[in-house]
Amino acid sequence: MGLDVSKKKLFIKTYGCQMNVYDSQRMVDILSPLGYLAIDSPEEADMVILNTCHIREKATEKVYSDLGRLKPHKEKRRSDGKNQIIAVAGCTAQAEGAEIMRRAPYVDIVFGPQSYHKLPEMVARATRAVDLDSDKKAGRGIVETDFPQEDKFDALPESKAEGVTAFLSIQEGCDKFCHFCVVPYTRGVEYSRPATSVLKEARDLVRQGVREITLLGQNVNAYHGEAPESGKEWSLGRLCRELGDIEGLDRIRYFTCHPRDVDQDQIEAHRAVEKLMPYLHLPVQAGSDAVLKAMNRKHTADFYRKIIDQFREARPDIAFTSDFIVGYPGETDHDFKETLRLVEDINYAMAYSFAYSKRPGTPGALQENQVSDDVKKERLAELQLLLRSQQMAFNESCQGRIMPVLFEKEGRHDGQLIGRTPYLQSLHAKANKRLIGQIIPVKIVSVESNSLSGEIVTGEIIGAAA
Ligand code: SAH
Ligand code: SF4
Ligand code: F3S
Repeated sequence: MGLDVSKKKLFIKTYGCQMNVYDSQRMVDILSPLGYLAIDSPEEADMVILNTCHIREKATEKVYSDLGRLKPHKEKRRSDGKNQIIAVAGCTAQAEGAEIMRRAPYVDIVFGPQSYHKLPEMVARATRAVDLDSDKKAGRGIVETDFPQEDKFDALPESKAEGVTAFLSIQEGCDKFCHFCVVPYTRGVEYSRPATSVLKEARDLVRQGVREITLLGQNVNAYHGEAPESGKEWSLGRLCRELGDIEGLDRIRYFTCHPRDVDQDQIEAHRAVEKLMPYLHLPVQAGSDAVLKAMNRKHTADFYRKIIDQFREARPDIAFTSDFIVGYPGETDHDFKETLRLVEDINYAMAYSFAYSKRPGTPGALQENQVSDDVKKERLAELQLLLRSQQMAFNESCQGRIMPVLFEKEGRHDGQLIGRTPYLQSLHAKANKRLIGQIIPVKIVSVESNSLSGEIVTGEIIGAAA
């Protein structure tokens, strides 16, 4: 095979969730055999990919404003006799493919989250079109937004690890159709990868030096992948137990869960698998049963409290995070107070919270009892104050404790490394570079709301500056 040694430059910008981060990484994996090297800015890029998010209106609008900023670069390159392929990927691409081509006719390729394994073919077509100088204004861009029959994971090359932690997508899509959410429309129906393919990817990553894997899915605990034994399926709990046996893999996390999909197996995995980190993202969205019902979440606030208790019983040191939406249509002051009460009851280590954003095509957007922007803003501020104080209290409770920290990279200051505690807190400590990739006991000496600083407690480690 003739090797194409001419290196082409690729710039990918990733919006939205971890799923997109994973997908962007896989796009790099699939484009690198074509000679593409990832770079940090769009100006010099032969190809730009915006891997977009559609979850809230702001996320979508950002895509269009970024596209507007790309246009002059592309024109400048053209006048210098060079080309630049602009591709829009991800959830906005899936939801608004034609609209993107209409609003930004200089875009060459639009493709959804289930089609990126076809990138080499799409890039070849786009390159031919550019070489022939076909008129992009005529709207002849490539749009790939059908949900393909074949499994994209089968068509992807081996995952390339970058560092000691990695994401691994095991489940995609969603059949829950919460009334505020676009994900079932942008990612398609719920699909679980076969367990064998997940285990293989995990082993490949560990072989490349990965020590911590985060399993990803829009509803990762809906996982029901085909088992290696024929005719059977594995749950998330089972998968975590099997991953726990991989030598060299020290930490397992998963993200994100739906309360309705929690089963005994998942709870028991937290009791049985030491490598499963005691930190769980379990979005509840709201604390009022009326709002949960209107949102089509299909569970009550007390059901949620109950499963939290079960996890705490199985793994007493577990801490929780969540997502919240305030100002869903029809939410009253009383409903909102119920959300605050739930937050008080659970006591979160961290949480994300958002003002409800109307999304085209979702049932929530059609409701007439929308909450005003001012009220949403007030409620969000009040909720965030409470959540921030819980996060600070959680971090403060870590002060003086000794925690195992997985060191990931060098810090900004000489002789300093950055790592993560089991609770995903970012921690910096003076430590020798050779500890990158190791899990070391660290005493937490000071805490802030978003980071900790620590001192290594084994005699083994003398930082360069010590
Ligand atoms: N599958 C996850 C959520 C994925 S979307 C779950 O079921 O919890 C990530 C978060 O975005 C959601 O948890 C929700 O809090 C927020 N979100 C989704 N749609 C939204 C909307 N229309 N307005 C505001 N926030 C939204
Ligand atoms: Fe969206 Fe609900 Fe599915 Fe989560 S469970 S991705 S919020 S539809
Ligand atoms: Fe956004 Fe799609 Fe993720 S809408 S949050 S990128 S699944």
